[in-house]
Amino acid sequence: MKQTGGDDDAKRRAGESAADIPEDGDVVGLGTGSTAAHAIRALGRRVDAGLDVRGIPTSFQSRELAREVGIPLTDLDEASPDVAIDGADEVAADGALIKGGGAAHAREKLVDSAADRFVVVADPTKESEQLSHPVPVEILPDARGPVADAVRSADGDPELRAAERKDGPVVTDNGNLVLDCAFGRIDDPNGLARTLSATPGVVEHGLFVDLVDELHTGSDDGVEISTY
Ligand code: A5P
Repeated sequence: MKQTGGDDDAKRRAGESAADIPEDGDVVGLGTGSTAAHAIRALGRRVDAGLDVRGIPTSFQSRELAREVGIPLTDLDEASPDVAIDGADEVAADGALIKGGGAAHAREKLVDSAADRFVVVADPTKESEQLSHPVPVEILPDARGPVADAVRSADGDPELRAAERKDGPVVTDNGNLVLDCAFGRIDDPNGLARTLSATPGVVEHGLFVDLVDELHTGSDDGVEISTY
């Protein structure tokens, strides 16, 4: 799994807090990343103790972990999530998010937006007044040049995400590439989201606007819950 900043105990507290939410019969969207992984492990312990839920994974990584901890799986063709639990790279004060640090944001957005209740799990390093983290943009492999031009026209600076321990780019679970696009401080996340979504060759971007219902932020000694 990719290494990210933030205190792992804070992430664990956030993940465990969100994993208390699902009830018998629920379908649960299983997010990606180190914080969501804590939630998946905690949910696995609840399944072990008798909780009857099914999970919909958002990535290869979350599917593997869910299998390992014994969470029965389903998919969006069969069921719709009652609750989705997922991490974030940046959380603004109004609940807008940037996701995609693990290049899983296309499936994450699909599952998280389908859920009746979307719960974000984070540690305090993710919180900021306004979004400014580079926006991950998943693109078709042939679309690198035109999408990079469109990002520059929107005053962004696109950088092809390079793989670690492999020469060349990151290839997503869907066989696509990722441009990390720095826009500086994002004053109009909705407008930027619309611009990116309307660009041919863009599969999905990591701006999650008006989607979050609840934020569980772990700290040294507890969890703060905010609702939106
Ligand atoms: C995966 O693509 C991302 O959206 C993750 O949910 C995000 O990067 C948060 O990851 P951590 O919990 O590992 O920081």
